[in-house]
Amino acid sequence: MAVFKVSVSVIIIALVSSSLSLAHPGWGFGWGGGGGGNSGGYIGLVPEFYQYSCPQANDIVMSVLEKAIAKEPRMAASLLRLHFHDCFVQGCDASVLLDNSATIASEKNSGPNSNSIRGFEVIDEIKAKLEEACPQTVSCADILALAARGSTVLSGGPYWELPLGRRDSKTASFSGSNRNIPPPNSTLQNLLTFFNRQGLDEVDLVALSGGHTIGVARCATFKQRLYNQNGNNQPDETLERGYYFGLKSVCPQSGGDNNISPLDFASPAKFDNTYFKLILFGKGLLTSDEVLLTGNVGNTMELVKSYAEDEGLFFNQFAKSMVKMGSISPLSDYNGEVRKNCRRVN
Ligand code: HEM
Ligand SMILES: *[C@@H]1O[C@H](CO)[C@@H](O)[C@H](O)[C@H]1NC(C)=O
Repeated sequence: MAVFKVSVSVIIIALVSSSLSLAHPGWGFGWGGGGGGNSGGYIGLVPEFYQYSCPQANDIVMSVLEKAIAKEPRMAASLLRLHFHDCFVQGCDASVLLDNSATIASEKNSGPNSNSIRGFEVIDEIKAKLEEACPQTVSCADILALAARGSTVLSGGPYWELPLGRRDSKTASFSGSNRNIPPPNSTLQNLLTFFNRQGLDEVDLVALSGGHTIGVARCATFKQRLYNQNGNNQPDETLERGYYFGLKSVCPQSGGDNNISPLDFASPAKFDNTYFKLILFGKGLLTSDEVLLTGNVGNTMELVKSYAEDEGLFFNQFAKSMVKMGSISPLSDYNGEVRKNCRRVN
């Protein structure tokens, strides 16, 4: 209901003031403040946000993505993950993009991010092109959301209508990044706790974990499973034997921490439901992947099975859950800013 009202008021504003610069993004959403990740609505975010101020925004994002992903298919995965790591730390506000400075302790150096998140050059290129076409209009937080959707689509996954209008933070949270991003050796109960904290439920957890249908992980993130899963110097017994031996060859007990393995080895660059099929066979790469089947909390086992069986069902729910994740505590109205350079505050 609120969303409908917002979009109508955008259209009216634009019709009344034929001057485009007056139809300024963020203007006129008087009630959109408060709202933590848990408060439910997407207040202040609407798909038409740049309809008048930068109608070509998505086309510009897509043209840069097409080139970058053609050159390196993994880039789609890296950009999808970047949006996740942004949203889980003080909301989807592009805090993850800020570099170290006198006032910023960059999230890029946190445990989950350091030597791991990537794609910043592609975001910079998108931002530079958008600044040329529509100066100081499209936020870095919206660029991350658009890049995540575009990357999903270009990898063969679903499209969704994407609410826009996030603004960029003037702060980052290094400690929040260490506290709020779930580690790969999490139990299922832990994963649920991390997601619940963001207003996301077990359906979101399982569907969004399906993001691991593309991309790779470093040996350091799954080594524990191969050599000492439970402190008894034994491998994780839920690992399928053949897969386990293959993983040991890329991930030796000592060293090799930066060697990489696909999260979905059957189709690492294709966004499909193979990730869930592999989990059924004991071939999920991370503990956090396999426990969705074996963790024995709630309904996640059934969800894994149903997404493995029905790709359409997975695509549908992934799209819904991405909108939900992308709406965690956005800055709107006069909060935050639209950065000119995604790496630093204005
Ligand atoms: C459920 C909790 C999650 C955990 C514990 C987790 C953990 C990880 C880890 C450890 C890696 C490899 C990082 C590295 O080796 O440096 C990774 C990669 C990745 N994650 Fe997740 N993740 C989770 C949820 C998500 C979500 C919600 C998404 C997006 C919807 C996502 C998308 C990705 C992608 C696409 C990659 C591959 C990135 C690349 O190849 O550059 N993950 N994740
Ligand atoms: C997960 O890994 C961390 C870092 O290696 C370790 O301290 C922690 O005990 C592990 N947790 C579990 C549940 O194995």
